[in-house]
Amino acid sequence: MVPRPALLPGAPSLPRVIEPHIRRAEPRDGDAMYRLELASIHSAWREYYDGTQIQAWCQALHPTYRRDAQSVRELLVAEQEGRVVAFGQLHPRRARIEALYAAPGHMRRGLGQSLLRCLERTAWNLGMEALDVTASLCAVPFYRAAGYVEQGPWDFEFGEVRVPALLMKKHRPSPHPLPFRRSPWT
Ligand SMILES: CC(C)(COP(=O)(O)OP(=O)(O)OC[C@H]1O[C@@H](n2cnc3c(N)ncnc32)[C@H](O)[C@@H]1OP(=O)(O)O)[C@@H](O)C(=O)NCCC(=O)NCCS
Repeated sequence: MVPRPALLPGAPSLPRVIEPHIRRAEPRDGDAMYRLELASIHSAWREYYDGTQIQAWCQALHPTYRRDAQSVRELLVAEQEGRVVAFGQLHPRRARIEALYAAPGHMRRGLGQSLLRCLERTAWNLGMEALDVTASLCAVPFYRAAGYVEQGPWDFEFGEVRVPALLMKKHRPSPHPLPFRRSPWT
């Protein structure tokens, strides 16, 4: 029997990966990211999209796309025992999270959240006021839990094939006000 992804609504969380090893992607990670992306989609999307939609999306992915993206995007990978098990991509000029994928068997362990936090930190440090993402239907609960709010439907079209997604947005959190302290001299 094919194991059910830990992504389904109501699926329990799995033990967290404590302090995952996150680093900037390098050109040598391009193949691993491409394979991970395909595997992640085939595993997680099948409850939300049909075979034609998944096939259309995967065919549009180019094996060298993630490798080439590194020059203008912030691309981070999470590694476990020397293997890339998740990655995330921020486009700084568009203020957009462009990709976030965890490998099958590594979902719901906090890797997506850790990568997203790192990408958001970069975005807020660069002075962005908000970030958006076109979330696949299976990733909506994840982004909602991270504070992103639905803005409306956003469909991708591959010829006749439509792949529905949702545009979501998160505003830069305001810094916590300093706690009021009474002066010890008054
Ligand atoms: C979306 C994705 C990147 C999330 O990464 P992840 O490592 O599985 O998610 P995390 O473990 O960090 O989840 C953090 C929190 O998000 C929420 N969450 C994540 N998945 C959820 C789900 N299916 N249902 C409800 N809440 C969910 C939970 O609050 C979770 O915390 P918890 O496990 O303590 O309850 C990953 O599931 C994935 O690769 N999906 C397939 C590819 C994809 O569609 N990517 C998005 C493209 S826009």
